[in-house]
Amino acid sequence: MAQAEQSLKGRKILLIVGGGIAAYKSLDLVRRLRERGAHVRAVLTAAGRQFITPLSLASLTGNPVHEDLFSLTDETEMGHIELSRSADLIVVAPATADLMAKAANGLANDLASTLLLATDKKILLAPAMNVRMWHHPATTRNAARLRADGALFIGPADGEMACGEFGAGRMSEPLEIVDAVTQALQSETWIPLPATAAQNGSVLRGRRVVITSGPTHEPIDPVRYIANRSSGRQGHAIAQAAARAGAHVTLISGPVSIPDPVGVEMRKVETAQDMLAAVEAAMPADIFIAAAAVADWRVEGVGASKLKKGSGAGPSFKLIENPDILAHVSSLSAGRPALVVGFAAETDHLLDNARAKLARKGCDLIVANDVSTGTDVMGGTSNTVHLVSQDGVESWPLLDKDEVARRLVSKCAELLVEKTS
Ligand SMILES: Cc1cc2nc3c(=O)[nH]c(=O)nc-3n(C[C@H](O)[C@H](O)[C@H](O)COP(=O)(O)O)c2cc1C
Repeated sequence: MAQAEQSLKGRKILLIVGGGIAAYKSLDLVRRLRERGAHVRAVLTAAGRQFITPLSLASLTGNPVHEDLFSLTDETEMGHIELSRSADLIVVAPATADLMAKAANGLANDLASTLLLATDKKILLAPAMNVRMWHHPATTRNAARLRADGALFIGPADGEMACGEFGAGRMSEPLEIVDAVTQALQSETWIPLPATAAQNGSVLRGRRVVITSGPTHEPIDPVRYIANRSSGRQGHAIAQAAARAGAHVTLISGPVSIPDPVGVEMRKVETAQDMLAAVEAAMPADIFIAAAAVADWRVEGVGASKLKKGSGAGPSFKLIENPDILAHVSSLSAGRPALVVGFAAETDHLLDNARAKLARKGCDLIVANDVSTGTDVMGGTSNTVHLVSQDGVESWPLLDKDEVARRLVSKCAELLVEKTS
């Protein structure tokens, strides 16, 4: 095995391969995990065996492959309980609709489902299935139940499927799953929520939270665009914290270069107009958090051809206002989320501008941050925020964005209780 960065050195992964076409990607996943120093054991379901051979899995993992619950050899040597507990993390890839249904309902009628029930370790699922199977109410219910029980999800992604249809259901790529494995195993990104948030975990359990994050890119011509410095770190951290507090999270992200949070449904967009459409499609929700730095303007009349220089004067553009996503969601007459939270990045008169924004947009809470020079907000890793609501201003000290996210999720959970009880 090539010695790539050893970020998973010594970590023990139990990989369960279910019966879907994406099983072939799991062979690459094994390689990627081992390149990073992980020790991989594999379990292959009977349906999984129809797609890849135990020999391939055994050769790539360097370990025997486990297939049978009632295997005398396995029970004598290790036993199914030990197999599930000796791992640091259980990864199910592809997680079929069937495996998810069994795990969500506590069925244990084969080796894979018995291991999922017997384990006391984190479980990371990489679903892969036909788009209609993924959107079926039964699968939606099962995914929500698994999330509520603490399982983590990576994907599925949107894309073309082997069956010729298009939509959500493609298994995430092996390197994306490796990122999710790394995040799930890194204790520093797995700090338990503070007590208040942990108590509120039951409040966000089963709740739907829609979050926007990152910048938007507004085209000037087919190759150029207007953008801003937002990294998406704060919005993504909030999505991660909300998922850990038990919520079903849809994260609508503009173009960013940071990994997707684990256990959230991703929608990737480019422009403000795309973002609005994705937000509308993700509704209804209990909480909407607009953390994205949406471009205020876009260029009118973007053509299909690249603009050329040479005429002496530069091109002139007419900028027109983009839709106001926060104001739109706040003013929904039917299906307005119980709690609508906006962000305000200001360089001057921070609190006055934030109070004005609260009133203008009709939202419940504004998270205001100072983006004047000398601070580390746009694109950085820490943030000093002030929560502005009708009740006044609550100021927090300089915190890293993960901590801001945890506290904000905790605060939202409290406010949701107040508003809905
Ligand atoms: C060609 C073919 C492809 C399939 N692909 C998938 C798939 O991608 N996802 C899925 O959930 N089920 C898929 N199925 C159905 C599963 O194989 C079936 O539900 C099986 O019982 C799953 O067993 P397991 O969950 O124990 O692996 C497919 C079936 C066939 C015949």
